[in-house]
Amino acid sequence: MNDSAFDLQSLQAELAGKNPRLILKAALAHFDNIAISFSGAEDVALVDLASRLKPGVRVFCLDTGRLHPETYRFIEKVRERYDIRLEILSPDAQALSQLVSEKGLFSFYRDGHGECCGIRKVQPLQRHLAKLDAWITGQRRDQNPTRQELDEVELDTAFSSPEKPLYKFNPLANWASSQVWDYIEAYDVPYNELHAKGYISIGCEPCTRSILPNQHERAGRWWWEDAAKKECGLHAGNLKADEDG
Ligand code: ADX
Ligand code: SF4
Repeated sequence: MNDSAFDLQSLQAELAGKNPRLILKAALAHFDNIAISFSGAEDVALVDLASRLKPGVRVFCLDTGRLHPETYRFIEKVRERYDIRLEILSPDAQALSQLVSEKGLFSFYRDGHGECCGIRKVQPLQRHLAKLDAWITGQRRDQNPTRQELDEVELDTAFSSPEKPLYKFNPLANWASSQVWDYIEAYDVPYNELHAKGYISIGCEPCTRSILPNQHERAGRWWWEDAAKKECGLHAGNLKADEDG
């Protein structure tokens, strides 16, 4: 952390309702040891903005092993296009091998997505976040019922420890999907080709499908599960205490 005394409440008040650039600028000014979590979807707008503010900014992707080929190609395109330090995080090989040997490659359709997301996303994320003071996500309030009260900056209750607080910035919190897409078009930002094939929210291939006009964007994610539980553990702090991601 750059500041000796980081005052979360006053920064929250300062950033309330602000645009992505100002929120990112504040995040990068307050923290050196900070990285952007990039999913390979329209959150590329964050990468574009941040690389202008801080060339060489750290970005990481959670490679679950189950992303679409289009997403892998897009991630590499982003690496080539921007002045960023891109890290690709992989699941623990032993834990993964045990899961798929015991339960097969599609256990999430029967058991829910929690176990597979835990091994492929949440544990690698947890290991990475342990080395950071803060992280930046592309979450928006308009994405899901679980994200309606998202703050621009928050203490990450899911990944902080009593010894080490971890802060989480959500620079796109106040933007609607249409504003993100206006930005991508206006600044000629590259985008995942799946977006041109009816995909709005993009995750792993077996757990994402295209949606019909007027369907909510999260309707194509974990469509066999309840909408109120559509968090995979990356953003478990968004779920109320009595619910489980
Ligand atoms: S998810 O939790 O449901 O999968 P979502 O797709 O809405 O998340 O993306 C919200 C934000 O979570 C992204 O903008 C990104 O910051 C982070 N995120 C999601 N998936 C990944 C991933 N595979 N790698 C890195 N960050 C991710
Ligand atoms: Fe596994 Fe699906 Fe979660 Fe990807 S989104 S980690 S395939 S359950």
